Amino acid sequence: MPILFSRREMIVGSTAFCSVAGFGALGAVRSARAEPVHLIATTGRARLLGDGRPETPIWGYGGVTPGPVIRATQGDELRVRLENRLNVPTTLHWHGIRLDNAMDGVAHLTQQPVAPGASFDYRFRVPDAGTFWYHPHVHGSAEQVERGLAGALIVDEAAPVDVDRDVVLIVKDWRIDEDGQVHEDSLGNLHDAAHAGRLGNVLTFNGEHFERIEARAGERLRLRFVSAANSRIMRFDIEGHDAWLVALDGQPVNPVLIGGEGVVIAPSQRADLIVDLTGTPGSRAAIREVSDEPFAAAELVYDGEERRALREAPPEPLPGNPVPLPEGTPSQELDLVMTGGAMRPLADAIYRDEELDGRTLALQHGMVWAFNGVAGMPEAPLFVARRGAEVAIRMVNDTMWPHAMHLHGHHFVETARNGGAPQPGLRDTVLLNRNEDVTIAFIADNPGRWMLHCHMLEHQHSGMETWFEVGE
Ligand code: C2O
Ligand code: CU
Repeated sequence: MPILFSRREMIVGSTAFCSVAGFGALGAVRSARAEPVHLIATTGRARLLGDGRPETPIWGYGGVTPGPVIRATQGDELRVRLENRLNVPTTLHWHGIRLDNAMDGVAHLTQQPVAPGASFDYRFRVPDAGTFWYHPHVHGSAEQVERGLAGALIVDEAAPVDVDRDVVLIVKDWRIDEDGQVHEDSLGNLHDAAHAGRLGNVLTFNGEHFERIEARAGERLRLRFVSAANSRIMRFDIEGHDAWLVALDGQPVNPVLIGGEGVVIAPSQRADLIVDLTGTPGSRAAIREVSDEPFAAAELVYDGEERRALREAPPEPLPGNPVPLPEGTPSQELDLVMTGGAMRPLADAIYRDEELDGRTLALQHGMVWAFNGVAGMPEAPLFVARRGAEVAIRMVNDTMWPHAMHLHGHHFVETARNGGAPQPGLRDTVLLNRNEDVTIAFIADNPGRWMLHCHMLEHQHSGMETWFEVGE
Protein backbone atom coordinates (compact mmCIF):
# COMPACT_ATOMS: atom_id res chain seq x y z
CA MET A 1 0.00 0.00 0.00
CA PRO A 2 1.68 3.23 -1.08
CA ILE A 3 1.46 6.29 1.10
CA LEU A 4 -1.48 8.24 -0.13
CA PHE A 5 -2.48 11.86 0.14
CA SER A 6 -3.08 12.81 3.71
CA ARG A 7 -6.03 14.94 4.64
CA ARG A 8 -3.61 17.81 5.19
CA GLU A 9 -2.08 17.51 1.77
CA MET A 10 -5.55 17.50 0.35
CA ILE A 11 -6.27 20.87 2.00
CA VAL A 12 -3.11 22.43 0.64
CA GLY A 13 -3.72 20.86 -2.73
CA SER A 14 -7.28 22.02 -2.98
CA THR A 15 -6.48 25.71 -2.74
CA ALA A 16 -3.97 25.43 -5.57
CA PHE A 17 -6.49 24.32 -8.18
CA CYS A 18 -8.98 26.93 -9.18
CA SER A 19 -11.46 24.89 -11.11
CA VAL A 20 -14.83 26.56 -11.40
CA ALA A 21 -16.35 23.48 -12.96
CA GLY A 22 -18.30 23.00 -9.75
CA PHE A 23 -21.00 25.43 -10.81
CA GLY A 24 -23.86 23.36 -12.06
CA ALA A 25 -21.54 20.55 -13.07
CA LEU A 26 -24.06 17.98 -12.02
CA GLY A 27 -26.33 16.93 -14.88
CA ALA A 28 -29.99 16.50 -14.11
CA VAL A 29 -32.82 14.70 -15.80
CA ARG A 30 -36.48 15.00 -14.97
CA SER A 31 -38.61 11.96 -15.36
CA ALA A 32 -42.32 12.35 -15.70
CA ARG A 33 -44.75 9.63 -16.64
CA ALA A 34 -43.90 9.93 -20.32
CA GLU A 35 -40.16 10.34 -20.25
CA PRO A 36 -38.10 7.28 -19.45
CA VAL A 37 -34.57 7.88 -18.22
CA HIS A 38 -31.80 5.89 -19.85
CA LEU A 39 -28.86 5.09 -17.60
CA ILE A 40 -25.88 3.42 -19.21
CA ALA A 41 -23.46 1.85 -16.76
CA THR A 42 -20.10 2.20 -18.41
CA THR A 43 -16.52 3.28 -17.92
CA GLY A 44 -15.29 6.86 -17.97
CA ARG A 45 -12.72 9.20 -16.51
CA ALA A 46 -12.97 11.78 -13.75
CA ARG A 47 -10.71 14.45 -12.28
CA LEU A 48 -11.07 13.33 -8.70
CA LEU A 49 -7.66 14.68 -7.73
CA GLY A 50 -8.29 18.13 -9.22
CA ASP A 51 -6.83 20.00 -12.16
CA GLY A 52 -3.26 19.32 -13.13
CA ARG A 53 -3.34 15.86 -11.53
CA PRO A 54 -3.89 12.53 -13.23
CA GLU A 55 -7.44 11.55 -14.12
CA THR A 56 -9.07 8.50 -12.58
CA PRO A 57 -10.66 5.74 -14.65
CA ILE A 58 -14.13 5.30 -13.14
CA TRP A 59 -17.38 3.46 -13.70
CA GLY A 60 -20.39 5.70 -13.94
CA TYR A 61 -23.89 6.12 -15.29
CA GLY A 62 -23.29 7.73 -18.64
CA GLY A 63 -19.59 7.32 -17.87
CA VAL A 64 -19.64 10.12 -15.27
CA THR A 65 -19.64 10.08 -11.49
CA PRO A 66 -21.93 10.74 -9.82
CA GLY A 67 -24.63 9.85 -12.35
CA PRO A 68 -27.33 12.34 -13.34
CA VAL A 69 -29.66 13.66 -10.67
CA ILE A 70 -32.99 12.05 -11.44
CA ARG A 71 -35.86 14.30 -10.41
CA ALA A 72 -39.48 13.42 -10.11
CA THR A 73 -42.48 14.83 -8.29
CA GLN A 74 -44.08 12.99 -5.41
CA GLY A 75 -46.54 10.41 -6.71
CA ASP A 76 -44.97 10.21 -10.19
CA GLU A 77 -44.27 6.95 -11.86
CA LEU A 78 -40.62 6.72 -12.74
CA ARG A 79 -39.32 4.70 -15.66
CA VAL A 80 -35.62 4.03 -15.95
CA ARG A 81 -33.84 1.76 -18.39
CA LEU A 82 -30.54 0.44 -17.09
CA GLU A 83 -28.19 -0.64 -19.82
CA ASN A 84 -25.14 -2.54 -18.69
CA ARG A 85 -22.03 -1.82 -20.73
CA LEU A 86 -19.69 -2.98 -18.00
CA ASN A 87 -18.06 -6.38 -18.11
CA VAL A 88 -19.66 -7.45 -14.82
CA PRO A 89 -23.32 -7.97 -13.87
CA THR A 90 -25.08 -5.08 -12.14
CA THR A 91 -28.50 -3.78 -11.03
CA LEU A 92 -30.05 -0.55 -9.79
CA HIS A 93 -31.32 -0.23 -6.24
CA TRP A 94 -33.44 2.82 -5.35
CA HIS A 95 -32.24 3.45 -1.85
CA GLY A 96 -34.97 4.62 0.52
CA ILE A 97 -37.84 4.43 -1.96
CA ARG A 98 -40.84 2.46 -0.70
CA LEU A 99 -41.45 0.80 -4.03
CA ASP A 100 -42.72 -2.39 -5.55
CA ASN A 101 -40.54 -5.26 -4.43
CA ALA A 102 -39.86 -6.40 -8.00
CA MET A 103 -38.21 -3.01 -8.70
CA ASP A 104 -35.92 -2.98 -5.64
CA GLY A 105 -32.92 -4.05 -7.68
CA VAL A 106 -31.46 -6.66 -5.33
CA ALA A 107 -29.67 -9.31 -7.37
CA HIS A 108 -30.83 -12.88 -6.64
CA LEU A 109 -33.54 -11.67 -4.23
CA THR A 110 -35.79 -9.45 -6.34
CA GLN A 111 -34.35 -9.89 -9.82
CA GLN A 112 -31.63 -11.61 -11.80
CA PRO A 113 -28.48 -9.51 -12.17
CA VAL A 114 -28.33 -7.58 -15.44
CA ALA A 115 -25.62 -9.28 -17.49
CA PRO A 116 -23.03 -7.36 -19.50
CA GLY A 117 -24.73 -6.15 -22.68
CA ALA A 118 -28.23 -6.59 -21.23
CA SER A 119 -30.80 -4.04 -20.05
CA PHE A 120 -33.49 -3.89 -17.41
CA ASP A 121 -36.50 -1.59 -17.23
CA TYR A 122 -37.41 -0.21 -13.83
CA ARG A 123 -40.85 1.25 -13.37
CA PHE A 124 -42.24 2.33 -10.02
CA ARG A 125 -44.14 5.05 -8.20
CA VAL A 126 -42.37 7.36 -5.76
CA PRO A 127 -44.69 7.78 -2.77
CA ASP A 128 -42.45 10.02 -0.65
CA ALA A 129 -40.92 13.41 -1.37
CA GLY A 130 -37.30 13.72 -0.34
CA THR A 131 -33.66 12.97 -1.02
CA PHE A 132 -32.90 9.44 -2.20
CA TRP A 133 -30.21 7.80 -4.30
CA TYR A 134 -29.47 4.90 -6.59
CA HIS A 135 -26.61 2.43 -6.76
CA PRO A 136 -25.90 -1.18 -7.81
CA HIS A 137 -26.97 -4.03 -5.54
CA VAL A 138 -25.07 -7.19 -6.51
CA HIS A 139 -22.37 -9.31 -4.97
CA GLY A 140 -19.52 -6.94 -5.61
CA SER A 141 -21.47 -3.70 -5.31
CA ALA A 142 -18.74 -2.49 -2.95
CA GLU A 143 -16.37 -2.38 -5.91
CA GLN A 144 -19.00 -0.88 -8.21
CA VAL A 145 -19.88 1.93 -5.82
CA GLU A 146 -16.20 2.48 -5.06
CA ARG A 147 -15.54 2.94 -8.77
CA GLY A 148 -18.25 5.58 -9.03
CA LEU A 149 -21.65 4.00 -9.72
CA ALA A 150 -24.04 6.17 -7.70
CA GLY A 151 -26.46 9.02 -8.30
CA ALA A 152 -29.16 11.04 -6.56
CA LEU A 153 -32.89 10.58 -6.95
CA ILE A 154 -34.74 13.69 -5.81
CA VAL A 155 -38.48 13.57 -5.33
CA ASP A 156 -39.95 17.06 -5.15
CA GLU A 157 -42.82 17.95 -2.86
CA ALA A 158 -46.10 18.50 -4.68
CA ALA A 159 -46.04 22.18 -3.58
CA PRO A 160 -42.71 24.00 -3.78
CA VAL A 161 -40.74 24.49 -0.57
CA ASP A 162 -39.82 28.08 0.31
CA VAL A 163 -36.13 28.17 -0.67
CA ASP A 164 -34.33 30.07 -3.41
CA ARG A 165 -32.29 27.13 -4.61
CA ASP A 166 -31.89 23.47 -4.03
CA VAL A 167 -28.38 22.01 -4.20
CA VAL A 168 -27.57 18.29 -4.29
CA LEU A 169 -24.26 17.33 -2.67
CA ILE A 170 -23.18 13.73 -3.18
CA VAL A 171 -20.24 13.15 -0.89
CA LYS A 172 -17.90 10.24 -1.30
CA ASP A 173 -14.44 9.20 -0.28
CA TRP A 174 -12.25 7.24 -2.65
CA ARG A 175 -9.06 5.28 -2.26
CA ILE A 176 -6.89 6.56 -5.08
CA ASP A 177 -3.19 6.03 -5.58
CA GLU A 178 -0.70 8.67 -6.66
CA ASP A 179 -1.17 8.10 -10.36
CA GLY A 180 -4.91 8.60 -10.06
CA GLN A 181 -5.99 4.95 -10.23
CA VAL A 182 -8.63 3.46 -7.95
CA HIS A 183 -6.48 1.43 -5.57
CA GLU A 184 -7.23 -2.04 -6.91
CA ASP A 185 -5.02 -4.19 -4.73
CA SER A 186 -7.17 -3.34 -1.73
CA LEU A 187 -10.55 -3.99 -3.39
CA GLY A 188 -12.13 -6.83 -1.45
CA ASN A 189 -9.41 -6.63 1.20
CA LEU A 190 -10.43 -8.76 4.18
CA HIS A 191 -8.45 -6.67 6.65
CA ASP A 192 -10.53 -3.59 5.72
CA ALA A 193 -13.69 -5.67 5.84
CA ALA A 194 -12.93 -6.82 9.39
CA HIS A 195 -12.21 -3.26 10.54
CA ALA A 196 -13.96 -0.03 9.51
CA GLY A 197 -14.42 -1.01 5.85
CA ARG A 198 -12.77 0.65 2.88
CA LEU A 199 -11.90 4.20 3.90
CA GLY A 200 -10.77 6.56 1.19
CA ASN A 201 -7.98 9.10 1.09
CA VAL A 202 -9.72 11.53 -1.28
CA LEU A 203 -13.06 13.21 -0.62
CA THR A 204 -15.24 14.57 -3.41
CA PHE A 205 -18.46 16.55 -3.57
CA ASN A 206 -20.39 15.73 -6.75
CA GLY A 207 -17.25 14.09 -8.10
CA GLU A 208 -15.33 17.35 -7.77
CA HIS A 209 -12.06 17.52 -5.92
CA PHE A 210 -13.26 20.78 -4.43
CA GLU A 211 -16.83 21.84 -5.11
CA ARG A 212 -17.71 25.51 -5.27
CA ILE A 213 -21.33 26.34 -4.68
CA GLU A 214 -22.65 29.60 -6.02
CA ALA A 215 -24.15 31.79 -3.29
CA ARG A 216 -26.00 35.11 -3.21
CA ALA A 217 -26.18 37.03 0.03
CA GLY A 218 -29.65 36.78 1.53
CA GLU A 219 -30.73 33.59 -0.19
CA ARG A 220 -32.16 30.58 1.58
CA LEU A 221 -30.67 27.33 0.25
CA ARG A 222 -31.65 23.72 0.66
CA LEU A 223 -28.55 21.55 0.73
CA ARG A 224 -29.17 17.87 0.18
CA PHE A 225 -26.27 15.78 1.46
CA VAL A 226 -26.13 12.22 0.15
CA SER A 227 -23.38 9.87 1.29
CA ALA A 228 -22.19 7.49 -1.41
CA ALA A 229 -19.19 6.52 0.72
CA ASN A 230 -18.49 2.81 0.99
CA SER A 231 -17.77 2.91 4.71
CA ARG A 232 -16.67 6.29 6.05
CA ILE A 233 -18.90 8.04 8.58
CA MET A 234 -18.73 11.76 7.92
CA ARG A 235 -19.74 14.87 9.80
CA PHE A 236 -20.28 18.22 8.09
CA ASP A 237 -20.64 21.82 9.11
CA ILE A 238 -20.69 25.13 7.29
CA GLU A 239 -18.21 27.71 8.46
CA GLY A 240 -19.88 30.78 9.99
CA HIS A 241 -23.41 29.72 9.07
CA ASP A 242 -26.32 28.35 11.00
CA ALA A 243 -28.17 25.54 9.33
CA TRP A 244 -31.44 23.83 10.12
CA LEU A 245 -31.68 20.12 9.71
CA VAL A 246 -35.05 19.53 8.00
CA ALA A 247 -34.93 15.93 6.78
CA LEU A 248 -33.05 12.70 7.37
CA ASP A 249 -33.00 9.85 4.88
CA GLY A 250 -35.57 11.72 2.81
CA GLN A 251 -38.08 12.00 5.65
CA PRO A 252 -38.92 15.36 7.24
CA VAL A 253 -37.91 16.13 10.81
CA ASN A 254 -38.90 19.18 12.82
CA PRO A 255 -36.37 21.84 11.83
CA VAL A 256 -33.57 21.95 14.36
CA LEU A 257 -30.46 24.13 14.28
CA ILE A 258 -27.33 22.09 13.96
CA GLY A 259 -24.75 23.46 16.32
CA GLY A 260 -21.01 23.11 16.37
CA GLU A 261 -21.49 19.34 16.28
CA GLY A 262 -22.42 19.44 12.61
CA VAL A 263 -24.50 16.72 11.03
CA VAL A 264 -23.40 13.08 10.99
CA ILE A 265 -23.94 11.12 7.81
CA ALA A 266 -23.16 7.40 7.80
CA PRO A 267 -22.81 5.52 4.51
CA SER A 268 -26.01 5.76 2.43
CA GLN A 269 -27.67 8.29 4.74
CA ARG A 270 -29.00 11.64 3.64
CA ALA A 271 -29.48 14.92 5.46
CA ASP A 272 -31.30 17.96 4.11
CA LEU A 273 -30.19 21.28 5.56
CA ILE A 274 -31.70 24.71 5.08
CA VAL A 275 -29.22 27.52 5.40
CA ASP A 276 -29.66 31.29 5.21
CA LEU A 277 -26.80 32.93 3.36
CA THR A 278 -25.82 35.49 5.95
CA GLY A 279 -22.32 36.08 4.56
CA THR A 280 -21.26 39.27 2.81
CA PRO A 281 -21.11 39.65 -0.98
CA GLY A 282 -17.77 38.42 -2.28
CA SER A 283 -17.00 36.25 0.77
CA ARG A 284 -16.51 32.47 0.97
CA ALA A 285 -17.48 29.88 3.54
CA ALA A 286 -16.07 26.39 3.76
CA ILE A 287 -18.23 23.31 4.01
CA ARG A 288 -16.11 21.15 6.27
CA GLU A 289 -15.85 17.50 7.08
CA VAL A 290 -15.29 17.67 10.83
CA SER A 291 -15.26 14.04 11.99
CA ASP A 292 -11.52 14.49 12.51
CA GLU A 293 -9.46 17.64 12.09
CA PRO A 294 -11.75 20.03 10.15
CA PHE A 295 -11.19 19.54 6.46
CA ALA A 296 -12.48 22.06 3.91
CA ALA A 297 -14.21 19.89 1.34
CA ALA A 298 -16.26 22.44 -0.58
CA GLU A 299 -17.25 26.06 -0.22
CA LEU A 300 -20.01 28.57 -0.66
CA VAL A 301 -18.79 31.30 -3.01
CA TYR A 302 -20.75 34.54 -2.69
CA ASP A 303 -21.07 36.66 -5.79
CA GLY A 304 -20.72 40.44 -5.56
CA GLU A 305 -24.42 41.24 -5.61
CA GLU A 306 -25.98 43.30 -2.85
CA ARG A 307 -27.61 41.30 -0.12
CA ARG A 308 -31.31 40.60 -0.55
CA ALA A 309 -33.47 40.65 2.52
CA LEU A 310 -33.01 37.55 4.62
CA ARG A 311 -36.17 35.71 5.52
CA GLU A 312 -37.12 36.45 9.09
CA ALA A 313 -38.90 33.29 10.02
CA PRO A 314 -37.13 29.96 10.46
CA PRO A 315 -38.06 27.34 7.87
CA GLU A 316 -41.41 25.62 8.15
CA PRO A 317 -41.30 21.86 8.63
CA LEU A 318 -41.43 20.02 5.30
CA PRO A 319 -44.78 18.38 4.58
CA GLY A 320 -44.97 14.83 5.96
CA ASN A 321 -44.88 11.73 3.77
CA PRO A 322 -47.58 9.04 3.84
CA VAL A 323 -45.52 6.55 5.87
CA PRO A 324 -47.57 4.47 8.32
CA LEU A 325 -46.32 5.06 11.84
CA PRO A 326 -45.82 2.39 14.51
CA GLU A 327 -47.95 2.90 17.57
CA GLY A 328 -45.66 1.33 20.14
CA THR A 329 -47.54 -1.96 20.23
CA PRO A 330 -45.48 -4.33 18.06
CA SER A 331 -47.09 -7.65 17.22
CA GLN A 332 -43.76 -9.13 16.18
CA GLU A 333 -40.51 -8.56 18.05
CA LEU A 334 -37.07 -9.95 17.45
CA ASP A 335 -33.43 -9.44 18.27
CA LEU A 336 -30.65 -9.03 15.76
CA VAL A 337 -27.27 -9.48 17.40
CA MET A 338 -24.27 -8.33 15.40
CA THR A 339 -21.00 -10.10 16.10
CA GLY A 340 -17.52 -10.47 14.67
CA GLY A 341 -14.91 -8.17 13.18
CA ALA A 342 -11.46 -7.32 14.40
CA MET A 343 -10.83 -7.32 18.15
CA ARG A 344 -13.87 -9.53 18.85
CA PRO A 345 -13.64 -12.05 16.01
CA LEU A 346 -16.20 -14.77 15.32
CA ALA A 347 -15.45 -18.05 17.06
CA ASP A 348 -17.85 -19.79 14.70
CA ALA A 349 -20.99 -19.11 12.70
CA ILE A 350 -23.35 -20.73 10.27
CA TYR A 351 -22.55 -20.10 6.64
CA ARG A 352 -24.76 -21.62 3.94
CA ASP A 353 -26.30 -23.98 6.48
CA GLU A 354 -22.95 -25.23 7.71
CA GLU A 355 -21.40 -24.47 11.07
CA LEU A 356 -17.81 -23.32 10.53
CA ASP A 357 -15.05 -22.00 12.76
CA GLY A 358 -13.94 -18.38 12.47
CA ARG A 359 -10.74 -19.19 10.67
CA THR A 360 -12.42 -21.25 7.96
CA LEU A 361 -15.13 -18.60 7.59
CA ALA A 362 -12.55 -15.88 7.06
CA LEU A 363 -9.95 -17.68 4.97
CA GLN A 364 -12.20 -19.80 2.79
CA HIS A 365 -15.32 -17.68 2.51
CA GLY A 366 -14.29 -14.13 3.34
CA MET A 367 -16.86 -14.03 6.17
CA VAL A 368 -15.94 -12.12 9.32
CA TRP A 369 -19.30 -10.90 10.67
CA ALA A 370 -22.59 -12.54 11.61
CA PHE A 371 -26.18 -11.64 12.47
CA ASN A 372 -27.64 -13.97 15.11
CA GLY A 373 -24.79 -16.37 14.45
CA VAL A 374 -25.34 -16.55 10.68
CA ALA A 375 -22.76 -15.12 8.28
CA GLY A 376 -23.87 -13.90 4.85
CA MET A 377 -27.26 -14.16 3.14
CA PRO A 378 -29.23 -17.06 4.58
CA GLU A 379 -31.53 -19.27 2.51
CA ALA A 380 -34.40 -18.64 4.91
CA PRO A 381 -35.60 -15.17 5.89
CA LEU A 382 -34.68 -13.75 9.28
CA PHE A 383 -38.43 -13.40 9.87
CA VAL A 384 -41.70 -13.37 8.02
CA ALA A 385 -44.04 -10.51 8.81
CA ARG A 386 -47.75 -10.52 8.35
CA ARG A 387 -48.71 -7.68 6.06
CA GLY A 388 -49.54 -4.63 8.12
CA ALA A 389 -47.91 -5.98 11.30
CA GLU A 390 -45.94 -3.65 13.53
CA VAL A 391 -42.47 -5.15 13.77
CA ALA A 392 -39.85 -4.19 16.36
CA ILE A 393 -36.24 -5.22 15.90
CA ARG A 394 -33.79 -4.78 18.72
CA MET A 395 -30.40 -4.47 17.08
CA VAL A 396 -27.45 -5.17 19.34
CA ASN A 397 -24.02 -4.11 18.18
CA ASP A 398 -21.83 -6.60 19.99
CA THR A 399 -18.76 -5.65 17.94
CA MET A 400 -15.96 -3.11 18.31
CA TRP A 401 -17.03 -1.19 15.17
CA PRO A 402 -19.84 1.11 14.10
CA HIS A 403 -22.43 -0.18 11.63
CA ALA A 404 -25.00 1.59 9.46
CA MET A 405 -27.97 -0.75 9.29
CA HIS A 406 -30.29 -0.30 6.32
CA LEU A 407 -33.82 -1.66 5.94
CA HIS A 408 -35.26 -2.00 2.44
CA GLY A 409 -38.77 -1.10 1.33
CA HIS A 410 -39.82 0.61 4.57
CA HIS A 411 -38.90 3.46 6.88
CA PHE A 412 -38.69 2.94 10.62
CA VAL A 413 -38.61 4.91 13.85
CA GLU A 414 -36.22 4.39 16.74
CA THR A 415 -38.08 3.41 19.87
CA ALA A 416 -35.15 2.79 22.23
CA ARG A 417 -31.43 3.41 22.33
CA ASN A 418 -29.16 2.36 25.17
CA GLY A 419 -27.26 5.25 26.66
CA GLY A 420 -29.45 7.94 25.15
CA ALA A 421 -32.73 9.13 23.80
CA PRO A 422 -33.94 7.55 20.56
CA GLN A 423 -33.24 9.78 17.58
CA PRO A 424 -36.28 11.50 16.10
CA GLY A 425 -37.85 10.94 12.74
CA LEU A 426 -38.29 8.18 10.24
CA ARG A 427 -35.18 6.64 8.75
CA ASP A 428 -34.07 3.92 6.38
CA THR A 429 -30.57 3.59 7.85
CA VAL A 430 -29.42 3.78 11.46
CA LEU A 431 -25.91 4.12 12.78
CA LEU A 432 -25.00 1.98 15.78
CA ASN A 433 -21.74 2.64 17.50
CA ARG A 434 -19.87 -0.11 19.28
CA ASN A 435 -21.81 -1.64 22.15
CA GLU A 436 -24.91 0.31 21.23
CA ASP A 437 -28.27 -1.25 20.95
CA VAL A 438 -31.15 0.37 19.18
CA THR A 439 -34.71 -0.80 18.75
CA ILE A 440 -36.45 0.13 15.53
CA ALA A 441 -40.11 -0.31 14.71
CA PHE A 442 -41.98 -0.16 11.44
CA ILE A 443 -45.23 -1.20 9.82
CA ALA A 444 -44.52 -4.07 7.43
CA ASP A 445 -46.95 -2.86 4.79
CA ASN A 446 -44.92 -3.57 1.67
CA PRO A 447 -45.17 -7.17 0.49
CA GLY A 448 -42.13 -9.00 -0.81
CA ARG A 449 -38.58 -9.95 0.05
CA TRP A 450 -36.52 -7.18 1.54
CA MET A 451 -32.95 -6.92 2.68
CA LEU A 452 -31.65 -5.73 6.01
CA HIS A 453 -27.91 -5.17 6.00
CA CYS A 454 -25.00 -3.05 7.06
CA HIS A 455 -24.40 -0.34 4.46
CA MET A 456 -20.70 -0.32 5.11
CA LEU A 457 -20.44 -2.26 1.90
CA GLU A 458 -17.35 -4.21 2.91
CA HIS A 459 -19.15 -5.33 6.06
CA GLN A 460 -22.19 -6.33 4.04
CA HIS A 461 -20.14 -8.48 1.70
CA SER A 462 -18.26 -10.12 4.54
CA GLY A 463 -21.27 -11.31 6.47
CA MET A 464 -23.61 -8.52 7.57
CA GLU A 465 -26.65 -9.16 5.42
CA THR A 466 -29.98 -10.86 5.82
CA TRP A 467 -33.52 -10.55 4.54
CA PHE A 468 -37.12 -10.74 5.63
CA GLU A 469 -40.40 -11.33 3.95
CA VAL A 470 -43.66 -9.44 4.17
CA GLY A 471 -46.68 -11.53 3.24
CA GLU A 472 -49.18 -10.64 0.51
CU1 C2O B 1 -28.33 1.41 -0.46
CU2 C2O B 1 -29.27 -2.55 0.30
O1 C2O B 1 -28.80 -0.57 -0.12
CU1 CU C 1 -21.01 -2.67 9.41
